[in-house]
Amino acid sequence: MIPFSLFVVEDEESVRFGITLALEGKYRVRAFGDAETAIAATREEEPDLVLMDIGLPRMNGIDAFKAMREIRPDLVGLVITAFEDVPTVVSAMKAGAFDYVVKPLHMETLEMHVENALETIRLKKEVRDLQERCLRDKMPLFIGSSHAVREVMEFVEAVAKSPDTPVLIEGETGTGKELIAAAIHYRSPHFRGPLVSVNCAAIPRDLIESELFGYEKGAFTGAGAGGKKGLVEQAAGGTLFLDEVGDLGNEAQAKLLRFLEAGEFYRVGGTRALKVSARIVSATNKDLQGLIAGGRFREDLYYRLAVVKVMVPSLNERREDILPIARHYLVEFGRKFGKPFKGFSGDAEAALTARQWKGNVRELKNIVEWAVLAGKGSLVARDDLGLDRAGPGAAQAASLPGAMSFPPLTLSGVNLDALQESFDRYYINEALRLAEGNECRAASLLNINHHTFRYRRKKRGDQASPN
Ligand SMILES: Nc1ncnc2c1ncn2[C@@H]1O[C@H](COP(=O)(O)OP(=O)(O)OP(=O)(O)O)[C@@H](O)[C@H]1O
Ligand SMILES: [Mg+2]
Repeated sequence: MIPFSLFVVEDEESVRFGITLALEGKYRVRAFGDAETAIAATREEEPDLVLMDIGLPRMNGIDAFKAMREIRPDLVGLVITAFEDVPTVVSAMKAGAFDYVVKPLHMETLEMHVENALETIRLKKEVRDLQERCLRDKMPLFIGSSHAVREVMEFVEAVAKSPDTPVLIEGETGTGKELIAAAIHYRSPHFRGPLVSVNCAAIPRDLIESELFGYEKGAFTGAGAGGKKGLVEQAAGGTLFLDEVGDLGNEAQAKLLRFLEAGEFYRVGGTRALKVSARIVSATNKDLQGLIAGGRFREDLYYRLAVVKVMVPSLNERREDILPIARHYLVEFGRKFGKPFKGFSGDAEAALTARQWKGNVRELKNIVEWAVLAGKGSLVARDDLGLDRAGPGAAQAASLPGAMSFPPLTLSGVNLDALQESFDRYYINEALRLAEGNECRAASLLNINHHTFRYRRKKRGDQASPN
């Protein structure tokens, strides 16, 4: 194990020598006689702990510690003071010192304080590492090892590292743009911050400004008494994901542009300019250049959003990813519905590989879900896929296989919620397809009101956007 490293800053030579002697058996110790050389050394190396005398020549220990924390914000300090006077101790603690010891020093007491401080540092680091691992585990899996996907992922990895750069993700519907947005967030230095997603197509135009920028109390009839933080504010210190950005209306585009240009915004009804730092990631399956040419999307906004562009390739351009994705979802839905399949039959695999995937990965995922419900035995057969039913234009749709069967109820049970969810998803997608993406008409096909339709569409989590 690498020993902890300590800086000792003490002008009295005999004391400095005594401390070094007492601690260097256990730790790596570097000793300094004044603040200036210790600060300079902090630029080269980050010690785990600084033992800092308060009464130093020229610059006192508290100011010296502050200067070191400017270089290394996480630095932990143990302050050595000649007098236990309250103001000195308080200002040392305010400067971020962890603990203090009073002169004359008893080396055993000092060692105990050092051990305590280092134990706390070790625990904090452990908690931070665990949090980090947990957060990164939350990141959804982007399956695929084709050349095209590897290239995209390498690019994403590089882009994610500069947390201020706006990124525009382009690609056909269902290619995984939302997953890429999550990957950018979770690989960025701000991965501990929030990832706030806004579906620009789903928010009614007259509400978009207050949803994005929030409002002050009394800003409009019905505005809540306390005012409300908008999504931009909620994304502070993290990522704001503007999904379906091509669907923003003119007015919202203008407001967003102003925010991106000035770096500040006003809540609706507010008079105070607010500043927020959040990375903007946006996505669209529309041809923004075409929208710009048709006067429906602002060119100046486009250049602000598309500082870096990521193009997610269609599934047809990376056919070697089809089977790995299909097998992944076969296992996932198999587990969900209590129908563990071993795999696909040879001709089912051939059919999946040969198909033109207009709805890309979303369509593949839907087909696998329904095949799991339809299939019997240990292999999913070609017929279970119901590919022939999904004719041209069925881009978003899952197909309902003719021979669909419910999973039999045995003593190992079924997941009723998951089954219901899956029916919802099927009928919502079918209704949207028949209604050519018009939510109102889709809702009436299902005999539910528009509000309920939207709610269920949102709840089942997979926003198939209408084309
Ligand atoms: N490489 C992948 N591995 C695993 N699942 C994927 C992959 N790509 C997409 N998916 C899944 O496919 C579905 C559609 O993906 P996503 O919502 O990210 O698509 P999209 O490009 O945003 O589509 P749209 O333009 O319609 O909004 C999601 O359920 C997602 O989890
Ligand atoms: Mg999407």
